[in-house]
Amino acid sequence: MAEILSKPDYEASIAASLDKRMAWWREARFGMFVHFGLYSVLGRHEWAMAVESCPVQEYEKLADRFQPKPGAPKEWAKLAKAAGMKYMVMTTRHHEGFSLWDSKVNPYNSVNYGPKRDIVKEFVEACRENDLRIGFYSSLMDWHHPDGGAAAHDSAARKRFNDYTYALNEELLTRYGKIDILWYDAALPMQSWEGWNSLEMNQRLRAIQPDIIINNRSHLNEDFGTPEENVTADKNRDWEACMTFNGLSWGYVDAAQVAPYSYNAQRILRMLATCAHGGGNLLLNIGPAPDGSVPPEAVEPLKTVGRWLAQYGECAYGKVDRVAEDWFYVSQVCSVSIKGNTAYLWNWIWPTNGDFAVGGFTSKLKSARVLGSGVNLRFTQEKYRIVFNDVPKEPQDKIAGVAVIALEFEGKPEVVRFPTTLPMAIWLTAENH
Ligand code: GLC
Repeated sequence: MAEILSKPDYEASIAASLDKRMAWWREARFGMFVHFGLYSVLGRHEWAMAVESCPVQEYEKLADRFQPKPGAPKEWAKLAKAAGMKYMVMTTRHHEGFSLWDSKVNPYNSVNYGPKRDIVKEFVEACRENDLRIGFYSSLMDWHHPDGGAAAHDSAARKRFNDYTYALNEELLTRYGKIDILWYDAALPMQSWEGWNSLEMNQRLRAIQPDIIINNRSHLNEDFGTPEENVTADKNRDWEACMTFNGLSWGYVDAAQVAPYSYNAQRILRMLATCAHGGGNLLLNIGPAPDGSVPPEAVEPLKTVGRWLAQYGECAYGKVDRVAEDWFYVSQVCSVSIKGNTAYLWNWIWPTNGDFAVGGFTSKLKSARVLGSGVNLRFTQEKYRIVFNDVPKEPQDKIAGVAVIALEFEGKPEVVRFPTTLPMAIWLTAENH
């Protein structure tokens, strides 16, 4: 291993390779997060051990009841593929400290206990069979390791714990071939990159996997931001919103009871539109049941989204242009994503009265095409406004009720937010003074 770079030199070196390493990720848009571990057996959220003050020895017994059926990761990967997702990230070890692989440094693992199988290996194989990129979630916090808490105030414990953390990640990144994403989480109890030795750890891990993408949760900015449970664009860097399927838990919770809280296809598409609009990704979670089967409430919505993406994917995948806030104001019934000269309107409510317009445009429109239907909308363009004439009254998307209108402009599409000719602008101006 070459010498360890200083923080500024390290940041400059990863910035230099960022575009190349991130190329596939920036086009992927949609991935599956999988939270699976002993907490899946409990079915009360993956934080149950900590929040219920469960003693380590009692929690360890869950391992006997953790019996995922063979081939479970294949089910997840098939569903991810059917949903139009391009990558997966699985919890190789969550805060509970139980490793889902044959770890030599952590005997508390799924090969010594429970299923007596390497679930990480099964996951990797399932991803490869389905042509999905592979991400490893790796908790930094550890409630099982004897130094996991003491590391905060005892420097000898911290040294042991840092070495342990590195060794776990080194195993993950040396044993399974090419891994695409290292997804750290919960850098506690230490509160700084120095405390975790992240600068050295990440450099050494990158030396093993030079193309890897690392998230921002080891107290270093690294390659991308991770808004959690909210889809909020970051204007200044790559970002990926991670979302539970139900707003309640990442780990498994009773399928029948959680179904009413869960996303439907339309809500998922709304999130995806925000990601496409802001040039980010959506990492949508499933929490498989203790036997590893996919949570039933996720199946139909994800398959519907997949069928929709198969038809309209050009508005979602690929290199999008990150859009200025002004674009939120062209329509209240559409979201917008932009690629080159085309603005895609993701239409949430079809104009069944045949009457439709969008506002704020300053660039000249060439054509307006309803994706997948062959319908070209007739339009007239006024200053700032595009009025569509004779819009078919029938909603144009049969899959999810979300039609997409591709507006192709003569150049890069431009808009102004509330042009000065309109009352809204007067109101905004008045408020500003
Ligand atoms: C949080 C939680 C954790 C979950 C993660 C996903 O940090 O601690 O349970 O795995 O977010 O982003």
